[in-house]
Amino acid sequence: MTNKLTFTRPDDWHLHLRDGRAMQSVLPDIARRFARAIIMPNLKPPVVTTAQAAAYRARILSALPQELAGRFEPLMTLYLTDTTTPEEISRAKASGIVQAVKLYPAGATTHSDAGVTDIARCEATLAMMEKLDMPLLVHGEVVDPAVDIFDREKFFIDRMLIPLLQRFPGLRVVFEHITTKEAVEFVQAVPNRIAATITAHHLMLNRNALFIGGLQPHHYCLPVLKREIHRQALVTVATSGHARFFLGTDSAPHPLGDKESACGCAGIYSAHAAIEFYAEVFERAGKLDQLEAFASFHGPDFYGLPRNTGKISLSQESWQIPEEIEFGGDKLIPLRAGGQVGWKLMEG
Ligand code: DOR
Ligand code: ZN
Repeated sequence: MTNKLTFTRPDDWHLHLRDGRAMQSVLPDIARRFARAIIMPNLKPPVVTTAQAAAYRARILSALPQELAGRFEPLMTLYLTDTTTPEEISRAKASGIVQAVKLYPAGATTHSDAGVTDIARCEATLAMMEKLDMPLLVHGEVVDPAVDIFDREKFFIDRMLIPLLQRFPGLRVVFEHITTKEAVEFVQAVPNRIAATITAHHLMLNRNALFIGGLQPHHYCLPVLKREIHRQALVTVATSGHARFFLGTDSAPHPLGDKESACGCAGIYSAHAAIEFYAEVFERAGKLDQLEAFASFHGPDFYGLPRNTGKISLSQESWQIPEEIEFGGDKLIPLRAGGQVGWKLMEG
C-alpha cells in the first residue's frame, strides 16, 4: 500500500502570481495546493495603493478556474515606496484585504526599481504600520555594489534590519525567503516580533546547482542560492518546529526567453509541485511529522489569521514533472523539469 499523508491545507506566505494571461496559467498550481497565499506586489507598475490591491485581488479571483472558485483566498500586499503615505497604510488596514507591506530595497531584485531608496524617507509610514500592527515583509538584501552578492543578506541584518527593529520596537517583520545561517540565528534570537519564510528551492539546492553541468539559469533566483552549510541550517530550523519559521515558496515564474538570456531574470517556478517538494525535504530530514506545523500553522499564527480547516492529501508515489509549462502564450521551465518527485497531490 502506498503511504498517504493527510494534514491541514497549507498556505503560501510568499508568492508571485504576475497578472493577465500569465497569471491564468500558474494560478491553478497554487490554488490546488494552498488555501491562501500572500501575493507579492511587484507587478509592473507595482501595487502601491489599496485600490490597486483590491483590483488585483478581483482579477485573481476571476482568473480562478471554476472548480477552484471559492477555494483560494489571495492575501494582498502593498509595495512600499519612498512616497507611500501613512494615510495609505490606514486605508490598507481598514480595507481588510491588505495583510502586509513589502519592502524592496530599490534595485535588489526583479521589478524593484520603484522600491525604497532610503528607509529614512519611510519614517512616518513605518510608524503608522507599527501603530496599526501592519506587518512589514522585507526582501533582506543590501544593494551596495561593494558587497559580495553572497553576503548581501548578512549585511542587510546589520545595516538595515537591526536599526529598523530598534527604531520601531512594535513593528512586526517577516524576513522573506531567508537563505543563510546568519538569518536563521538572527530570527531565533529576536523574540516574537520577527518571523521568516523559507522557500523549497533554498531547502533543496545549494549554489553548486547554479554552475554544475554548465550555467543553470533556471536555478537563478534572489537571494541567490548559498553554500551547503546554509542550506543545512535552513533545513534544520524549518523541520525543528520553531513557530516563527514558515512556508513561503517565492514561486516566481518568468517566460523561458527571459531566463535563457544574456541578462537572465531572477526567479524559480516551484508552484507546480510546491508542497510535494517540501514533503520531500521533511521526509529526508526524518521530520515529516513537522511538515503540517511549518506549512499550515506557523504562518496564520504569526499573521493573526485562523488556521485552515480543510485538508490536503499527498500519496508517496513518484511522478514526472513536465519539461515545460504553458505560460500565457509563452513557455515556463518549472523547477526540476523532466525530473521525478516522490510525493503526489491527491485531488479533492
Ligand atoms: O528570484 C526572485 N524573483 N526573487 C525576487 O525577489 C523576485 C522574484 C520575481 O519577482 O521574479
Ligand atoms: Zn519574492
